[in-house]
Amino acid sequence: MLMRKRWVVPTPTENDDEQMLVALRPRNLDEYIGQREVVERLRIAIEAAKQRGEPLEHLLLYGPPGLGKTTLAHIVANEMGVGIIATTAPSLERAGDVMGYLLSLKRGEVLFVDEVHRLPRHVEEFLYPVLEMFRVDFNISKRPGAKPHRFELPPFTFIGATTKAGNLSKPMRDRFGLKFRLDFYSVEELAQIVKRAADLLGVPIDEGGANEIARRSRGTPRIANRLLRRVRDYAQVKSDGKINAEIARQALTIEGIDELGLDQLDRDYLTVLICEFNGGPAGLEAIAAMVQEDARTLEEMVEPFLLQIGFIRRTHQGRVATVKAYQHLGLEPTKLPQPSLPLTGN
Ligand code: ADE
Repeated sequence: MLMRKRWVVPTPTENDDEQMLVALRPRNLDEYIGQREVVERLRIAIEAAKQRGEPLEHLLLYGPPGLGKTTLAHIVANEMGVGIIATTAPSLERAGDVMGYLLSLKRGEVLFVDEVHRLPRHVEEFLYPVLEMFRVDFNISKRPGAKPHRFELPPFTFIGATTKAGNLSKPMRDRFGLKFRLDFYSVEELAQIVKRAADLLGVPIDEGGANEIARRSRGTPRIANRLLRRVRDYAQVKSDGKINAEIARQALTIEGIDELGLDQLDRDYLTVLICEFNGGPAGLEAIAAMVQEDARTLEEMVEPFLLQIGFIRRTHQGRVATVKAYQHLGLEPTKLPQPSLPLTGN
């Protein structure tokens, strides 16, 4: 298996400067770019709750990774003027783990749970009455026969985030009064996000430079900010530190990122599917063996974007390349497969 460093995945990577990404996060709804409908609906819900002097209803944020679910959770707390406790479902193994957080919540505060579809079943069931009635019967004593103690909790706001809304149980889904789906950002929105981030970092960038980065960011702010860092380094070392379209193009080309934001692994996948399997249908395992990657990595880190941009289709027989994929690689869909191309993964 090759170990590849990838710049265009939507999930956090070990190369990310988390501190920088957090510093770039918008703090309130006015600073937030994109997701216009979600922002508008949130604004109304927040304003209404504030007018009534009530906590915001429980809120579910779902959609692909890297689009700002965590950022929005922090913004909600900030706009409501309350504190937030943020955690992630896999770290909540027992009811007791949640209990610790619940007991420290003050009225109206936010409990944010990322990857909420991964809560263990018994933790989920423990949470149902808590979310409904802000009441919990909990056994403090481990002595056999000990009676549970009833805790009355101050009302609070539960915010859950998930990339897999379909994996949430119905009772859990039903606990959320507000449900918002985040969608991929347009190139224009991403360009605005890049310009804002460059401003905050004190990096000069023009319209063309911001657009060039935005076009290759796969609709995802987290990728845009990551690419901006690469381009900033390049501009500093190879030029005068200013980012324009040409500098951005050069910087991202040497990182192997093409005009659509595909990297070498994406192109290797397509090349194998087209040249070795005649465009498919081909099984995932067979493709994985040829690109020397593990099948799960391809399924989770390569295929979603190729499906989204309509470069591949999944059929019962296997994966199929579309005409768009052939065109992007400069290959003729009608011709017979060529001999295998060298793979240049790095
Ligand atoms: N940085 C990352 N996502 C952002 C967004 N949606 N708006 C402004 N800045 C961002």
